[in-house]
Amino acid sequence: MTYSELDDSRRRLVDLAREYTYNSYAPYSHFSVGAAIRLDNGEIICGANQENAAFPSGTCAERSACYSAGARFPKAKFEAIAIAARGVDGEPTPAPCAPCGACRQALLEYETLAGHDVEVLLVGKDNIYLLPSVKSLLPLAFTEIN
Ligand code: THU
Repeated sequence: MTYSELDDSRRRLVDLAREYTYNSYAPYSHFSVGAAIRLDNGEIICGANQENAAFPSGTCAERSACYSAGARFPKAKFEAIAIAARGVDGEPTPAPCAPCGACRQALLEYETLAGHDVEVLLVGKDNIYLLPSVKSLLPLAFTEIN
């Protein structure tokens, strides 16, 4: 769908995800990702990818946002997340940016904690994918430790 088709609350989330691509620290990949999570307490918590010279020590925008949300508002439930990216040319990616596998797994945990679906908005330059849930992005997910 397009930005103009979204309601105000989804537009706000998309705006913040786009804005937070400018808070990315990505001197190695030059790929800048922003994420914005709406909680059921009305707060919106944002994140951006943060890289490190020791590459695995960095983190994606989605995990930056969801762990921040969990740390700041441990009792709040996730309602929706928007994810946007700018490529190495500094421009918004034409295709919506899809979360990596590790971020899907991390987000699924918060969807499970919420007890209901968490909407996912993947934001491209001119079009947006509106997905009903995190679990729709992670079939046959690992969900428990035995
Ligand atoms: N990245 C994200 O922030 N989210 C994703 O879902 C995929 C990748 C970041 C990690 C790294 O800083 C850069 O994009 C290139 O992989």
